[in-house]
Amino acid sequence: MLEGPALPWKVIKLGLIGSTQEKAREYLASGHGAGTVIVAAGQIDGRGRRGRSWHSPEGGLYMTASLRPVGEVGLVPLMGGVAVAETIREMANIDVRLKWPNDILMRGKKMGGVLSESGWAKGKINHVLLGVGVNLNNPAPHWLPEATSLSEELGRLVDVDSFLDILLETLDRYIPYLESRPELILSSWKEMSQTLDRMVEVTDEDGELISGLAVGVDPDGALLVDYGGTIRRVVTGVLELR
Ligand code: BTN
Repeated sequence: MLEGPALPWKVIKLGLIGSTQEKAREYLASGHGAGTVIVAAGQIDGRGRRGRSWHSPEGGLYMTASLRPVGEVGLVPLMGGVAVAETIREMANIDVRLKWPNDILMRGKKMGGVLSESGWAKGKINHVLLGVGVNLNNPAPHWLPEATSLSEELGRLVDVDSFLDILLETLDRYIPYLESRPELILSSWKEMSQTLDRMVEVTDEDGELISGLAVGVDPDGALLVDYGGTIRRVVTGVLELR
């Protein structure tokens, strides 16, 4: 399981940097432990899942939290998505949805994403870098018609610092559940899911295309797809809704 930080979050706010993931790694290496949160005003080398880049102009939220692994680490990405979605709901009272594993969608368009990277030592995970990128006051990338930002949806700017505060409080609430009540993370994710009971196409980690009905999520966060009558477990992959 993962524990919440023993100390309060230690938030380090930076200007324009390469990537908060890399900066968080540097901080970890120099002795800044779990609970360190790197926040950037913008990133020139922001990274998305599966080697994609993450457009990170000023106005968005770009942060990486270092977590200490103790528990169902497989649920960290889903937990991150749930925490971001709840934060948006609390800030703006709008109906955000989650696409497996952790895309944050509004009206079917992507507003944010979560990148969870584990660091290993002696055969065990010894830290997880939970990266969150949300289009807040920045315009969504115009070359991605399937993207949006919170300010575009609301027609007003939002306070990025308040967003971060609520997000960290929400993460604090959820992190202990990784050990004590993982079913609560799953039930929150399912309640906000825009994936379950939908026809999907998933390219799994081996590059295999699996299409079928998304019927469930395993306790470790793997997606279950009914593939011609056989239930396939997809641990990680790229998913399209059909
Ligand atoms: C995705 O949907 O592909 C995940 C996007 C994650 C982007 C965030 S922004 C903060 C952190 N630093 C990075 O370089 N990436 C993550």
